[in-house]
This record gives sequence, C-alpha cells and structure tokens, in this order.
Amino acid sequence: MIERHFEVPFVSRLALREKQIQQNYRPVIAVHKWFARRPGTLFRSLILSEFAEQPIHQTFYQSQQLPNVRVFDPFMGGGTTMMEANRVGCAVAGTDVNPMAWWIVRQELGELDVAAYQKTAEQLRSHLEAEIGHLYRTRCLHCGSEEARAKYFLWVKTAVCESCHQPTDLFPNFLISEDVRHPANVFVCGCCGELFEAADWKNPGPCPHCRKALPLQHTAKRNKAICKHCDQPVRYPGATSPKHRLFALEYHCESCGSQSVAGSGKGRLFKKPDAADHAHFEEAGRRLQSLRPKFIPEDKIPDGDETDRLHRWGYKCYRDLFNARQLLGLELSCRWIAAVKNERIREALATNLSDLTRYQNMLCRYDTMALKSLDIFSVHGFPVGLIQCESNFLGIAGRKGAPVGSGGWLNIVEKFAKAKRYCSAPFEIRHEGLRKVEVPMPGEWIGTSRNGEFPTQEREVLLLCADSASARIGGEMFDAVFTDPPYFGNVQYAELMDFCYVWLRKLLGGSVPEFAKASTRHHNELTGNANMGRGLDHFTEGISDTIRRSAERLKPGRPLAFTYHHNQLEAYLPLAVAILDAKLVCSASLPCPAEMGASIHINGTGSSVIDTVFVCRSTGRFPRHWLADDAEGVAGIIGLDVKMLADGGVKATQGDIRCIACGHLTRLAIWNLRKTWDRTLPVMGRMDVIRQWLSTFGGLAAVLTALEKVFSAAAPVQKWETAGIINEAYESKHEVSF
Ligand SMILES: C[S@@+](CC[C@H](N)C(=O)[O-])C[C@H]1O[C@@H](n2cnc3c(N)ncnc32)[C@H](O)[C@@H]1O
Ligand SMILES: [Zn+2]
Ligand SMILES: [Zn+2]
Ligand SMILES: [Zn+2]
Repeated sequence: MIERHFEVPFVSRLALREKQIQQNYRPVIAVHKWFARRPGTLFRSLILSEFAEQPIHQTFYQSQQLPNVRVFDPFMGGGTTMMEANRVGCAVAGTDVNPMAWWIVRQELGELDVAAYQKTAEQLRSHLEAEIGHLYRTRCLHCGSEEARAKYFLWVKTAVCESCHQPTDLFPNFLISEDVRHPANVFVCGCCGELFEAADWKNPGPCPHCRKALPLQHTAKRNKAICKHCDQPVRYPGATSPKHRLFALEYHCESCGSQSVAGSGKGRLFKKPDAADHAHFEEAGRRLQSLRPKFIPEDKIPDGDETDRLHRWGYKCYRDLFNARQLLGLELSCRWIAAVKNERIREALATNLSDLTRYQNMLCRYDTMALKSLDIFSVHGFPVGLIQCESNFLGIAGRKGAPVGSGGWLNIVEKFAKAKRYCSAPFEIRHEGLRKVEVPMPGEWIGTSRNGEFPTQEREVLLLCADSASARIGGEMFDAVFTDPPYFGNVQYAELMDFCYVWLRKLLGGSVPEFAKASTRHHNELTGNANMGRGLDHFTEGISDTIRRSAERLKPGRPLAFTYHHNQLEAYLPLAVAILDAKLVCSASLPCPAEMGASIHINGTGSSVIDTVFVCRSTGRFPRHWLADDAEGVAGIIGLDVKMLADGGVKATQGDIRCIACGHLTRLAIWNLRKTWDRTLPVMGRMDVIRQWLSTFGGLAAVLTALEKVFSAAAPVQKWETAGIINEAYESKHEVSF
C-alpha cells in the first residue's frame, strides 16, 4: 500500500536528482518532446509501494515483475505512468486527447530494431550531406580551412525605418558570448559589424576595428529602437513576419582541433559571416524556390492564448517561422523519409523530424552562457526574441563521434537510439558517495514486445487518442490508476504541439486516422483557454467526469493516485470536487519534488518545486496522525513533511510549503465533506461547498500562521519510519479505516 510503503525522503532524493537531468535517468523521454513530464522514479515508487508489499527503499533497486496488475492513465501525456508500469510487466491502458501525446507514447512503447534504424538514419544524413552539407561549411579564420562547419548561425531581427526606409538592426544588446564557456566576452560591433572580445562585459570599450563605442543608444527595447541611419524611432513588430540579418557564426574546425581557439583547447570559434556564408544562404533560398515543396505545411496559425503572440509579430502561417535553409533541409528530409520502405523505421524517422523542427526554426534562441541553441519550447509558450539561432541542420560529429553542438539530425538520432536501447535494458542510477552507479534491472523492459534476440514476449498495451471525460475503456477492471491531470490555465498543450504536429501530419500523409484533424486542439481539452471559451467550470466538469469514470473501472479499494502542483488553494477545488464526485476518499497527500528551474510556471508569490501526490480510494486505511482538526494540526503535519523532504535533500521554500499546505487542506476538506457531499448540485455550487469548508477551517492563511509556532515544536522523529512494522494492533490504534 502506498500509504505504508512510500517513503518521502527516499523518493524525494530520487526525483530531485532525476528532474535535474531527466534524460540521464529516463533516456526514453528523448523519443520526442512532451511538456511537464513527471519523474519516472516517482511513478515507479508509487507502483512498487502499492504492489511490491515492502517499503520502497527495499524494492526500488530490485528488478520487478507484476504481470497480474492492470494500470490505467486517463491523461497519459508523454507516457510516464505507461512506461513505468509496462516496464515491470503490468498491462497498461492510457488515453490522451492530444494526438501528438498518443503518437509519442506509441513510439516509446513500439518495438524497434535499433541497429537497422541507426543504419537508415545514417543513410539519411549522408543523403543530406550530399545535397546541402556545403551550405553549412564555412572558412576557418584561424587555419583557412574551407571545411569548418557552422554550428550556429546567429540572426538579428531587423525593421524598416519609416523615416529613411532603410532596415535597421534590432539588437537588444551586443553581447554574443559570456566568458563562461569561452575565455572572453564576445561582442558584435553595432557600427561596423565586426566581432571582438573584451574581458569586462560591462565596459567592453570601443570596437578595436572601427574605434567607435558600442552604439547603446540604438539597442532595441519595449518594441522600440532608434534607427542607426537617421536616429528616428523605429517601432516593431510590423504587420508582416519579421526579417532577419545574419551577423555571426559559431563554428567548429576539425583541423584546428575540436572547438578550440586556434588549437589552444579552450573556448569557441566565432566569426562575422563572409561573402561565402551569405552566398550559401542565398543558394538555399534559390533551391527552395526551384523545388515544388510537398511536405512543407501550409497551415495557418490559428488564434489562441499562446499563438496570439505569433500573430502580433506578423506570423500568419507555420512556415513563416522557418528560414529558407531550414525549410529546404526539412523538405528534403521529408522526401527521403517518405520513401523509406520499412514502416516502423519510417515512423521513427518521422517522429525525429517532428522533434527536429523544435530546433530548426527562427524562434530558437542562443544561450549566451551555455553557448547552445534553446529550442522553441524551452519555456511553455512562444516567446519571440530579437536574436535567433539557426543550428547546423545535419549535426556535427566530433572526433570521437559524439555530437558537437545541438539541434541537428545527428543529435536527434543519437538521443532517439539511446532512448530505444534503454527500453531493452532499463536501469536505475544509485548514488554511492559521489559515484553514480548504473544498476541494471534484468528482466525489466519497456514495450509491447521485447526488442532483440529474445523469444517474443508480449505485453498488453492499449493506447487511445480520446477525451477521457467521455471515452469508454473496456476490458477487465484496473488495479490502479496513476495519472497527472492538466493544471487549469497552465500549459496549452495543443496550441504548442501543433507546431510539430503540422509537419508530422503532412509527412505521414493521411495514413494515421488519429491525425485526421488539421490541429491537435480539442474543445474538451482540459485547460483554461480564453480563446476557446473554456473556464473553470468546464475544467472542473471534465476533471470530475474523468476521475469518476476512471474510479468506476477500478477494483474496490485500489488506488487512484495523481500528482498536482499549484500554490493557490483555489486551483485545488476542481480536484476536490472530482474526488468527492467519484465517491473516493483522499487517503494520503504526499510531497515530492517534480518541477525544476525554468519549467516552473505557477504564478504569484513563491515558486515551488514540490508536487503533491494525492492517493484516493473507495475504501482503505491511513495513519491516524494524518487527520487534523485545526490549522495547528495541519501545521504539525506539514512540519513533518518539511523534515522528511530535508532528509531527502530537498530544502522546502515558502512556496513549497504553500503547495504542501494546499495538498493537506484539500485532503482534509474531502475527508470532512465525504458524508454530506451532494453530487447533484451545479458545478460552481459544489466548488462553493469546498471553498466554504476551507474558509471555515481558516484557509491557507491560518495554516501558514500556525506554522510559525509549530515549526520549532514539530516532532523531530519521523512517524513515517514505523511504517515498515505494521501489525493488527497498530492498525486499529494508529490507522483510520474508511
Ligand atoms: C500534465 S500532462 C501529463 C504529463 C505526463 N504525466 C507526463 O509525465 O508526460 C496532462 C495531459 O492531459 C491531456 N489532456 C487534457 N485534456 C484531456 C482530456 N479531456 N482527455 C484526455 N487527456 C487530456 C493533455 O493533452 C496532457 O497530455
Ligand atoms: Zn532611419
Ligand atoms: Zn566596429
Ligand atoms: Zn581551423
């Protein structure tokens, strides 16, 4: 049972480490981008705590087989539950309303001959090298080699001045690289366009080429710049999609030694583009015009909460977000992929192309510290920068074959192959002191059938692209539902993923019925969306219908567990309604780190990395000390949580504590309202009932006030640790049944 065997310190430590470099702990996620992926280690811990009948620290690193367990996820997203449950032999079923999510999970779980895939991918790269490889060559400033490879082309947006009718650059500043990965700060001169280095980034001094000071008066900010030709104000964005000017390259020269400044072994190579670099881009434009593109999507960008920003910048069609060289590379890749005979490999490469578009578009930015490209989804929106980064399309192999730079075909193929190899032989990582040890899990594997030379073994996998609030999932009853519902007003999955979808859909050319519609948007997608007229009532109804239907398919007393993350108590009301509507009780609310750094998106004060895992059942038992009658009692419980997180290496911040408090208050509201709950009230009325209960209890404010006192007085020992030694007497004295 999760309530007994899940150990917050142990799982927190794992999840924290995983979320810092998720692809190292769960390489399978590299099959294709999906948003807000939960930690695989957390979901493995939930599954094993429930079914392996021992405290999680005893079972986590052991290979597991649970062939008689059936698991369902109604919001499968990138497939975390599906992968973790399938891997230990469970039968899995999952739904997602978004066809891209459905496709991605299919690709993650689908069998693949990885060696054959890699061979075909290599042929694709050779084909592209022959066709367009020269468009990414550049002359090395140090050794004169013409064979150096452009890693990144840096482009600045330009706007035409209404006074003098000349284009002017929209540099927000002139810094290209900070002195972190490179020994000096690199600047572009806003007067003569030459690049130069300076030790002090705040006072770079005059440009050594033209002797002029950097023209800071011409930098662009808040939609305005001063024309560099006539000093008149220039406003942007304009009515048509923005134009760009190539102003710098970061490149890699094999003959100078890898990535180094003239063989010194340090830093990066930068240059101002020369005539040949400009000519290459023009050639790409001419080639693109002479082709009759078959695979470049013509779709318009629909209105939307996120896409409206693109419209404001004058982008009307998806293709406007790419430059000619990117479009040429993508079109040629699609043509080649469409002709691949092996269906499975064709699908894999099509998935890769879709993922590649994230890096091959003119919304990608250049990280001036890490010196790499930031893909279009590095934040959950479509921010439009003023400096854009075009990555080498093919990707560059370094001396030892590993990719140099990011965002090209080689990078995508490498990570995809790694992801699929992991499916045949998944592992966990254990930290022993400072060492990381890869722990193999013999017998575990991910997929519908096992890759490779083993006698065919099959596992039950059911994937459905459907609205979970109305979808019918047949078959036997489930032993567990593990999920991660969307959070109201958070990520606009469909609006964002359409960017990749329009390419994938066109490439697959009508062969996939789930891709019939032109967009992944769905009127029943569970996100607040002003543009589609979806408010909190729609969200609550949808969550409630989904949870209720899932609970109906669940064996009595079995868990329906999900993660949730928000620092406003209001955001929990829909969940509380859903759980009560489904006649479930929330038997645990467990803190666990999940969202990291840049991916934090909750609003207001105090960002947080802590998710609450809600465990719900129709009947069962939980520790008596998880009940509280007043704010002081809740504060005591939170004090213990904070202590357990600290034991797991997570220092809870104020924002984290708010989230944890929201979790417990929601759990207690459900517990106290379960007997009088009236499901027939209108949805807003049901939310009011919960709001009322919370307010009478004192709300978040009372708990946070009580915490001041309770923090120091909270019991230092973890009551949790007694969970392993449960006996009958303990159950009645220390646990509550429901
Ligand atoms: C928070 S994400 C799940 C992420 C997943 N746990 C992971 O780790 O990748 C929520 C998912 O719910 C899906 N969703 C939204 N509305 C839905 C609906 N009505 N029916 C089914 N799925 C829906 C979204 O498309 C999204 O993939
Ligand atoms: Zn002007
Ligand atoms: Zn200059
Ligand atoms: Zn060189």
